[in-house]
Amino acid sequence: MNARMEQATRGRPPRAALCTGATLEADLRPENMKRRIAIIDDSRAKRAALAYVLRDSFDISAYGSGREALPDLLRCPPDLILLDIEMPDEDGFCVIRNIKAQPTLRDIPVIFITSVDDRHVEAEGLRLGAVDFISRNFVPETILARVNVHLELQAYRRSLEDAVREKTRMVEKLQDSIVITLSDLVECRDVATSGHARRTISYVEILCRELAARGMYADLLTPETIEVFMRAAPLHDIGKVGIDDAILNKPGRLNDLEFDAMRHHTLLGARAIQRAIDQMGAPTFLDVVKEMTLYHHERWDGMGYPFGLQGEEIPLCARIMAVADVYDALISERPYKPPLSQEQVVAIMAGERGRQFDPAIMDVFLSIHEKFAAVAAETER
Ligand SMILES: [Fe+2]
Repeated sequence: MNARMEQATRGRPPRAALCTGATLEADLRPENMKRRIAIIDDSRAKRAALAYVLRDSFDISAYGSGREALPDLLRCPPDLILLDIEMPDEDGFCVIRNIKAQPTLRDIPVIFITSVDDRHVEAEGLRLGAVDFISRNFVPETILARVNVHLELQAYRRSLEDAVREKTRMVEKLQDSIVITLSDLVECRDVATSGHARRTISYVEILCRELAARGMYADLLTPETIEVFMRAAPLHDIGKVGIDDAILNKPGRLNDLEFDAMRHHTLLGARAIQRAIDQMGAPTFLDVVKEMTLYHHERWDGMGYPFGLQGEEIPLCARIMAVADVYDALISERPYKPPLSQEQVVAIMAGERGRQFDPAIMDVFLSIHEKFAAVAAETER
């Protein structure tokens, strides 16, 4: 028997062959699949005894220590691990810690095999993540039954997780389609900004990913947060549904009164989102939508609206949105102005560094503004 790894599988190829693909296709057929169990025990006789009991029902890999097992476990994670507690060098507690520290292994059920009948040992093993204890003096039928129970529980847990993931995906898709529908409705009324809401998704993504790549706002800009910012972006002007058509689509510049009315779109939008938050219990997504809606016209220097917030008082999502929003407004045609060239837009926005815009975000924009231009060129404006 191989000193490093014993194959107790009867009539089947070695695990290494399974994993390297020599007989992979045949072995992956559902009718040929056997669940895999790793046995880690320093006693060769005890490994053999366990393997003997289990070999008809499972593929078995057996190891004399955790150190010996770990590389194989990582390469080919088993479905369940039987782990001896009393071993020289690394005991079972040490081995289970190493196993649970590996993301690909941490969900695999571990059953301790022990000759120690001690409540404290059992409590410690369970605390470290073991799912069960089996006495070294096991009865074959008992160990088979308990292994099967834990494999079934594991399969059930995985199917539940898959179902939750699928439901979450469906809810996110539904949320995205509602967001796009709502932003399209806003744009139906605001004839000058066709495609603006959708383009802001791309601009926000470009800025967020570049900021994250440079380690800026690292505590805030996680991959999950960036997704939320992107999904919230198209709703930033949702409050425009409450603005009079004559103002919204006025050809030419707004007078002071009209501009005051227009400013209200931030408050109207935030109020509508707040109602949804009150009903939904404030999930992260709606909080971000509200912040973007309410604060995207605030300025870094405190001269914006509706509250005149300053610097980092303005939520990061709104500071990012401000750059996306203004870029698209400048590069696009509006009733009161023709489209500006990329050079003109960049020059104007650079002049607002530290005034209208967060200087750190503006520096990033200035270094990657061609990516904004590519988005603007791709879409009809
Ligand atoms: Fe706006």
